[in-house]
Amino acid sequence: MAQDINSPDYTIGVIGTGTMGRGIAQISVVGGYKVKMFDAQEGAAAKAEEFIHRMVNRAAEKGQITEGEAEAANGRLVIVNSLSEMGDCSLVIEAIVENLDVKRAVFSELEGIVAEDAILASNTSSLSVTQIAAGCEKPERVAGYHYFNPVPLLKVVEVVDGQMTAPWVADKLDAIARKCGHEPVRTQDTPGFLVNHAGRGLYTEGVRILAEGIAEPHQVDDVLREGGAGFRMGPFELMDTTGLDVSGVVMESIYEQFYQEQRFKPQAFIRNRMAAGLYGRKVGQGFYTYESNKKIAPEEAAVLSDLPDSVWVGPEGHDAAKILADYLQDYVEVETGAKPSAKAICMVGPMGRDATMTAVDLGIEAERTVAVDTLFGLDGRRTMMTTSVTDEGVRDLAHGVLAADGGKVTVIHDSPGFIAQRVIATIVNISSEIAQMRIATPEDINKAVMLGLAYPQGPLEFGDTLGAVKIHAILTAMHDFYGDPRYRPSPWLTRRARLGISLMTPEA
Ligand SMILES: NC(=O)c1ccc[n+]([C@@H]2O[C@H](COP(=O)([O-])OP(=O)(O)OC[C@H]3O[C@@H](n4cnc5c(N)ncnc54)[C@H](O)[C@@H]3O)[C@@H](O)[C@H]2O)c1
Repeated sequence: MAQDINSPDYTIGVIGTGTMGRGIAQISVVGGYKVKMFDAQEGAAAKAEEFIHRMVNRAAEKGQITEGEAEAANGRLVIVNSLSEMGDCSLVIEAIVENLDVKRAVFSELEGIVAEDAILASNTSSLSVTQIAAGCEKPERVAGYHYFNPVPLLKVVEVVDGQMTAPWVADKLDAIARKCGHEPVRTQDTPGFLVNHAGRGLYTEGVRILAEGIAEPHQVDDVLREGGAGFRMGPFELMDTTGLDVSGVVMESIYEQFYQEQRFKPQAFIRNRMAAGLYGRKVGQGFYTYESNKKIAPEEAAVLSDLPDSVWVGPEGHDAAKILADYLQDYVEVETGAKPSAKAICMVGPMGRDATMTAVDLGIEAERTVAVDTLFGLDGRRTMMTTSVTDEGVRDLAHGVLAADGGKVTVIHDSPGFIAQRVIATIVNISSEIAQMRIATPEDINKAVMLGLAYPQGPLEFGDTLGAVKIHAILTAMHDFYGDPRYRPSPWLTRRARLGISLMTPEA
């Protein structure tokens, strides 16, 4: 049995040849490894073999690999009819049904078949690697090897260190992943590992905004896609795409596995929507309606062409007053005095605070006040919110002036942190806590989230770009307002904000 991962005889076993197993087998043969595939279901491995040959040949047609390389890769793939034929595998990757008892039984059987120093890896996405390994005689050779779907396209893999995993095991898995063209990220065996843990904030804060009656699903998605944050999809589009039957279960499971950590708390309406079968795209109805698989999005709200005579810009917010005044001065008279004149409508740009409390604290009339989110500037879609008592006329005039240059405006109800501030601050905070808990390095957190979730920036990078001080201020203000521990800033974030250093700075 070859142990050198660069040896042409190094053989990888893949158990379970469904969605994930076939992808893992494909990148492994293309990466130069011999692969033996096994599936318990009659004919499944043969189907996977045919699929992989097709994919490898297609890669050659597209010029991604040569004809010769494709032929060699296809030649390295064999299917076997029982686990007992995996004896010469130096690494076996399991990608079978997500069930702890079944996985444990397979690992236990494998231990009697493979060599003493062969590695056993699981592609589990939600089970504890330590618990899978606990059923083995040699838990130190068991690790998580969590690929993402579709494997050949999402070029990141989480190498999960279980409680007992020996360092050499994860080191070898790292090196093998690189040979197969994937970026390994190292993570401790904690719920959601790295990517699904760091990705929580987008969902939990999105659903919290909806539960609190602040904005509609399409408004949250529009702001996160077009408002400067640059997400490809908002949380509700994502849940509709994955299916709420899957994402709802993951949401609840991670919350429970972290002993009801409030940062991960889902909202009650999620369970009801699951019970009602509103799973999303696959059933034609979720947070959006789908016709012939096409999302039907609500129309943009109409905009008044009337503009206010003058807009008083409040001093609240870090650089908000300047951003607002710079934009408004092309369209209206801008007031920046201590108090608004009688004819002015009032615009404030709070960070982490709501419109109503901002108006009250500034001593201005809440009836003629609106707030605008300036976290990402005003180049993209703008978010404007009313106080609890803003006059309709004031709201419409403010909407009009914010749309005067043709820009789009989302008008929401009052909320500390609008949409973007609260979602981004939550994402940065959760990743700061991942770094604080030493689950992964700051570099790996950014890399994993960008490659695994296609975020425009890594979460800690987001924090650095916007400013750790600002993110910390948003969270602190939200924590003060709600008294909800989900908004408490992570020690990692607090210390780096106070020191004025990058969120990427490791602990001494
Ligand atoms: N689908 C995803 O997006 C995704 C992403 C990451 C990780 N995962 C994880 O990967 C694993 C596989 O998921 P999948 O989506 O490929 O599932 P799948 O249902 O597409 O494939 C599973 C395959 O395993 C076979 N199988 C089941 N029990 C077996 C056994 N005891 N021995 C041998 N073969 C057996 C089945 O016949 C099936 O072909 C799960 O642990 C899942 O949590 C899935």
